[in-house]
Amino acid sequence: MGLFTKFLNQTRKPEGFLGRVMLRGMSFGHASVADWAMSVLDIAEPSEIIELGCGNGRDSGELMKKYPASRLTALDYSPLSVERTKANNKDMIVAGRLEVVEGDVSRLELAPGKFDLATAFETIYFWPGLEHCFAEVARVLKSGGHFMIVSESDGLDDITRWFQQRIDGMNVYTSDEIADALTKAGFVEVKVYHHESKPWLMVLAAKP
Ligand SMILES: C[S@@+](CC[C@H](N)C(=O)[O-])C[C@H]1O[C@@H](n2cnc3c(N)ncnc32)[C@H](O)[C@@H]1O
Repeated sequence: MGLFTKFLNQTRKPEGFLGRVMLRGMSFGHASVADWAMSVLDIAEPSEIIELGCGNGRDSGELMKKYPASRLTALDYSPLSVERTKANNKDMIVAGRLEVVEGDVSRLELAPGKFDLATAFETIYFWPGLEHCFAEVARVLKSGGHFMIVSESDGLDDITRWFQQRIDGMNVYTSDEIADALTKAGFVEVKVYHHESKPWLMVLAAKP
């Protein structure tokens, strides 16, 4: 595997020097799609949020700005992502609003029914089995809680398909595939938002 492909593969589970560089770059690469999705998100203020696959923690910080009374748990299975999320949000940890934990979305070691909102920015591509992982997310949400999935790919665009061919274990999904997995995992009120000019998706669903 060449150096550039090795670097691209750091999106899946950042580690080491290349992972550090990748996590720094993610803020530039993903900020606009994340900010668009957060501008579309229109739900009652959540008090407990879980940010799944938090990367460098940039979106955890933005969510806490959008919802200033919230507490947030940021989770990632990469120890380096956990370290960077802590380093980038020290003030929120000191304020008692943020906890950062190492964990795998496919087996969440968290109490059921705790969260009002779960978010997944640019990460479901790497989750092992959408329906199973979505059911895990449903388990930790309160009844009436929401799950927001954000993707810069609508599963059809050429650029992300190019990445998919080079990054091990990456899968891009269409909005229909995401909605279908959400429904099979027990979610209801599935709403799909498409950006007006880019292949960006925000999918919002509720736990009954
Ligand atoms: C492409 S990065 C996106 C990071 C951040 N959400 C963003 O939008 O910039 C994907 C992140 O998801 C994490 N991730 C992938 N699969 C995961 C899993 N099964 N459980 C927890 N984290 C996971 C990776 O370690 C990585 O930090």
